[in-house]
Amino acid sequence: MTTAESTREIYNDQAEKWQRDRPTLLSDFSARPFLLELCDPIQGKRCLDLGCGEGYVARELMKRGAASTLGVDISEKMIECANRQQQSALQEGLEYRECDLRNGAEDIGNSYDLVVAVFLFNYMSIEEMHRTMRLAHEKLTSTGRLIFSVPHPSLPFLKRDKFPFYFAPSGGYFSGRDQCFPGEIWRLDRTPVKVQCVHKTFEDYFQGLKAAGFETMPNVHELKINQAHVDLDAEFFEPLRDLPLHLAIEVTK
Ligand SMILES: C[S@@+](CC[C@H](N)C(=O)[O-])C[C@H]1O[C@@H](n2cnc3c(N)ncnc32)[C@H](O)[C@@H]1O
Repeated sequence: MTTAESTREIYNDQAEKWQRDRPTLLSDFSARPFLLELCDPIQGKRCLDLGCGEGYVARELMKRGAASTLGVDISEKMIECANRQQQSALQEGLEYRECDLRNGAEDIGNSYDLVVAVFLFNYMSIEEMHRTMRLAHEKLTSTGRLIFSVPHPSLPFLKRDKFPFYFAPSGGYFSGRDQCFPGEIWRLDRTPVKVQCVHKTFEDYFQGLKAAGFETMPNVHELKINQAHVDLDAEFFEPLRDLPLHLAIEVTK
């Protein structure tokens, strides 16, 4: 089974666990609030959400004033969940489509002000990520931005205990490149959710951006938990103190 097939299966099987209308998963606390702030100013912008899942980020972009957002995802069940939420709280200008980004995406339009890819590239090989970064570059206006997050490349090697987030490496930092590390991330209610990380080094991300045509200096943020997280739920967040959890990267065309 290819990584993309297993990805589709993982997300079709777990769509209900992902469905949420408030912060639920660890990364809803440790990553998404930061990414959404990076997206500002968002008022009136045309957005494309690659690997949108059940639409959590797309809905937030619309709430924050985006003019439109198109979300695309390989998993039909995640798209079903996204459409279900869309029916219960209709947001004009928000649309979802099923699409395997490894095969390009002819019908997703052009001239986006913002392309986001929130924890998408960790489901792709290095080559697939390069192609998807090129696609993002093509779809942006001349001053558009790409904002994406991925698990921090060091995390699988630094965090050995499982709860509440881990990846099990099957190679070293360099020898494990392009290998799929299985992992889990927990929800605050202690439900584990299966995730994967096709391991890449820092160099792979920056080479990918350069090869895609991004020539400006990317803004790089290494995301971690803070004291407010520990105050909210010490048992949950304390094992993550001082660890680099995610990377958030913003680059302008
Ligand atoms: C970790 S989830 C994140 C979902 C959403 N971005 C969020 O932040 O809630 C990763 C998503 O990427 C999607 N995905 C993985 N590979 C894909 C591909 N080749 N084409 C489109 N979507 C893909 C998965 O189906 C899944 O919904």
